[in-house]
Amino acid sequence: MPINDAAARGFERGADDYERARPGYPRAVFDLLTDELPLRPRTRACDLAAGTGKFTRGLLNSGATVVAVEPVHAMRRKLAVVCPEAEILDGTAEAIPLADRSIDVVTVAQAFHWFEAEPALAEIHRVLRPGGGLALVWNVRDESVDWVHQFTELIVERSGGRPYTPYHATARGDAEAMDERLAVVDEVGGFTPLRHATFDNSQPIDVDGVVARAASTSFVSALPDDRREALLAEVRHLVETHPQTAGRERFAFPHRTDVTWCHTV
Ligand SMILES: C[S@@+](CC[C@H](N)C(=O)[O-])C[C@H]1O[C@@H](n2cnc3c(N)ncnc32)[C@H](O)[C@@H]1O
Repeated sequence: MPINDAAARGFERGADDYERARPGYPRAVFDLLTDELPLRPRTRACDLAAGTGKFTRGLLNSGATVVAVEPVHAMRRKLAVVCPEAEILDGTAEAIPLADRSIDVVTVAQAFHWFEAEPALAEIHRVLRPGGGLALVWNVRDESVDWVHQFTELIVERSGGRPYTPYHATARGDAEAMDERLAVVDEVGGFTPLRHATFDNSQPIDVDGVVARAASTSFVSALPDDRREALLAEVRHLVETHPQTAGRERFAFPHRTDVTWCHTV
């Protein structure tokens, strides 16, 4: 099954900006998952939709053996440089190139919203051993901060795509919206009840970083050159003139990291 076209084109072209500008994940997330999934030195973990390896590197630091699955060639190329210890496979969530019950832990960071949820969950369930752990992780921008809200609106208006669709489709970043998005995991069955945790994850950034962050959004990097450049100029203007960011060399890009986890039954 091919992946979403905006993801395929956008992540192929935006891999460098992605690696440069997207936030990583706080150490506390890996401490939690080490205890809860658990992650141990002999754990065989699959980082599904691994991208450039922003989450993979934390998994490797836990001592786990990691196989990273990623369908986009440009992302895999970066991943190989950043995480040479990981085994890297071309594949999708809907057709995971791993044997039945061969994996202790599956992690999906910033990507479950791209999947066809039901076939992907069936595949995740198939590759996990009984009692294996699944973690779904998202970095979510703090839209209550005005310049961040305006940043998101610019991208939505100019590209027609909504980054992190499940949250913004409901116009809320709250627990209720998260429950709606994740209800499918309960519906398909085969997993223990979901548990949730949230961590602060503010990212120090500068104006160029915010522009690269916009460029790394799949909908933006998939735009024709003239529209992409016009949008990126507007993003630069926003950050250079907004009272919360104007004249500041570095400032915080506020985020939180939401973690949801469960085990197969
Ligand atoms: C926003 S990036 C997240 C990358 C990485 N996990 C991270 O946390 O930075 C989303 C990734 O999902 C991948 N992706 C999109 N659709 C997919 C699918 N159906 N199966 C597997 N990966 C997919 C994209 O190629 C992209 O690398």
